[in-house]
Amino acid sequence: MIIAVDGPTASGKGTIAKALAEHFRLPHLDTGLLYRAVGRQCFLDGGNPDDPVAALAACSFPDALLTDLELRSEATGGLASRVSVHPAVRQALFERQRSFATQMSGAVLDGRDIGTVIAPEAAAKLFVTASVEARAWRRHLEMEAQGRDHSLEEIAADLAARDERDRNRKDAPLVAAEDAVLLDTSELDRDAAVAAAIAAVEACVSRALS
Ligand code: DC
Repeated sequence: MIIAVDGPTASGKGTIAKALAEHFRLPHLDTGLLYRAVGRQCFLDGGNPDDPVAALAACSFPDALLTDLELRSEATGGLASRVSVHPAVRQALFERQRSFATQMSGAVLDGRDIGTVIAPEAAAKLFVTASVEARAWRRHLEMEAQGRDHSLEEIAADLAARDERDRNRKDAPLVAAEDAVLLDTSELDRDAAVAAAIAAVEACVSRALS
């Protein structure tokens, strides 16, 4: 069984995808991490993330980079969003994501285009959203816990800019698949969001079997 979990930054899709993987005992791939590695490698190479040639060259990042804590930073998230607009970058990362999705065991993948491009045949597709305010507040608490200080306004502006870029790029924009279940986590805590996601996947599976 393939479970696709898409949605914007800080919507809770990563937490939900991890919990679904644990619940259904499936391997999990955070595809945003691949784009983050490309953005980070491009930066380390001194390249311009808006230049498709420099961004494509960064796709051959070493696997060890995937464990670099710097990948989780807001700055690297911004670089990831910029390199991800280039069709050549998306193409270069496609096979890696596709073979993870189609492994025998099944899989959970989270990202922006899993239900639309990477695994349109997924048995269950969730599109996780939350208001910009709710997402900015969560990010703010996360950063505070890490001792990093950013104002709520700064974080909200950064999220809105990334949403705009991710939604409006020509290739594989952030959009819910027609058959995705929408899950708005604005008013839900972690446990409630995970419970709703598990129920949604179970409903998709029993619909497919009936
Ligand atoms: O989910 P994230 O914040 O780690 O993703 C970082 C950026 O990577 C995001 O702004 C857009 C890009 N991305 C993408 O284009 N397609 C994906 N499947 C996953 C991430």
